[in-house]
Amino acid sequence: MQSSDLANQLSMETVHGSLADPAISSMNLLNELIGEYPLAISMAAGRPYEEFFDVGLIHRYLEAYCDHLRRDRNLTEAEVTRTLFQYGATKGIIADLVARNLAEDENIDASPESVVVTVGCQEAMFLVLRALRANDRDVLLAPAPTYVGLTGAALITDTPVWPVRSTEYGIDLDDLMHQLKLVGDAGMRARACYVTPNFANPTGTSMDLPARRRLLEVAAAHGILLLEDNAYGLFGADRLPSLKALDDSATVVYLGSFAKTGMPGARVGYVVADQPVAEGGLLADLLSKLKGMLTVNTSPIAQAVIGGKLLLNDFSLTKANARETAIYQRNLHLTLGELTRALGACPGVTWNTPTGGFFITVTVPFVVDDELLKHAARDHGVLFTPMHHFYGGKGGFNQLRLSISLLTPELIEEGVSRLAALITGRLP
Ligand SMILES: Cc1ncc(COP(=O)(O)O)c(C=O)c1O
Repeated sequence: MQSSDLANQLSMETVHGSLADPAISSMNLLNELIGEYPLAISMAAGRPYEEFFDVGLIHRYLEAYCDHLRRDRNLTEAEVTRTLFQYGATKGIIADLVARNLAEDENIDASPESVVVTVGCQEAMFLVLRALRANDRDVLLAPAPTYVGLTGAALITDTPVWPVRSTEYGIDLDDLMHQLKLVGDAGMRARACYVTPNFANPTGTSMDLPARRRLLEVAAAHGILLLEDNAYGLFGADRLPSLKALDDSATVVYLGSFAKTGMPGARVGYVVADQPVAEGGLLADLLSKLKGMLTVNTSPIAQAVIGGKLLLNDFSLTKANARETAIYQRNLHLTLGELTRALGACPGVTWNTPTGGFFITVTVPFVVDDELLKHAARDHGVLFTPMHHFYGGKGGFNQLRLSISLLTPELIEEGVSRLAALITGRLP
């Protein structure tokens, strides 16, 4: 028998369609280039600052969490040991601590029952999209450009993403209403809209307070949920209330991540889903059912580390990240200043001016594709992210994303100067 006759012959045609989608492999090129050009200055990776990483902290956090179990929950030594070693509750063992953190940092009133602790925010996105995709009419709206993790979760849950225009101030609410109408006209059903109101990835843009209130009204009027991703919310000077803090009608499903505020290696995130389900219980209970068959439970050891960090910082990650936030703010302002110095007089070269977070969008009067990125790495020793990766290859071809989170002032000066050499060399 020819191998091609085998029913289970593997090819891109016989595996899930998401595997052939460019969005899923878009970050591979970046990782390859980082490996190939280790001396290139990376203004590409959205990773948190590393200088304060310390293995000793992991031990302190674990110990603080165990002390909490003994002291506040009256667990015996055997019970403490079992909590860390054994399988745990699907919803997690630190939901109460997460709820206290949300009250402290975000003024969000979340009951521990509405919280599911997940393997990063990524799992939370997957669970919510899986639950909301009841049939092939169901779609998710999301601003274009959008975070690749969301695109990936949508792809693997077979959820079509219906793009909404994005402006300097976040999602365009007029276009959102227009797209909601088009979804209906097409016989589809909009279930939810994904948004990052604070310092979005990849654009760095934020929504002002009136826009947040209006978004909540639009969502409630159209009967859709808002999936609020707040991964960068702490890292700004003037902080506005999250959608969830303003929500009094259970319109918002809050997607939380400890990757930037706790530690990315722990892989702990969560979802607050307090929406009631007609047959009883909350959306969180349904998500927990799905999680039981996906990751069973989030590692109790990882949860204990994050729980300990919360306990040792009086539940405030704002406080725990004071040094990091100061560095991100310094880096952001320094990068914006260097861009003005090096490129301020160049016609057609512009950038936005986010007030927090990790990212800046630069617009140039020529095509920014993966070929240009390779050229930048090889001939100029600098890396950025071409914006088209966040549009699923359907836009953003004259924009790039700069990330400021991992750099020192010296690297920012040198990185922007290398980028400026690349850009000015391409100007007419
Ligand atoms: C918009 C956004 N959401 C969430 C995350 C973090 O996800 P996770 O908690 O799975 O690391 C990131 C990290 O890059 C992000 O940019």
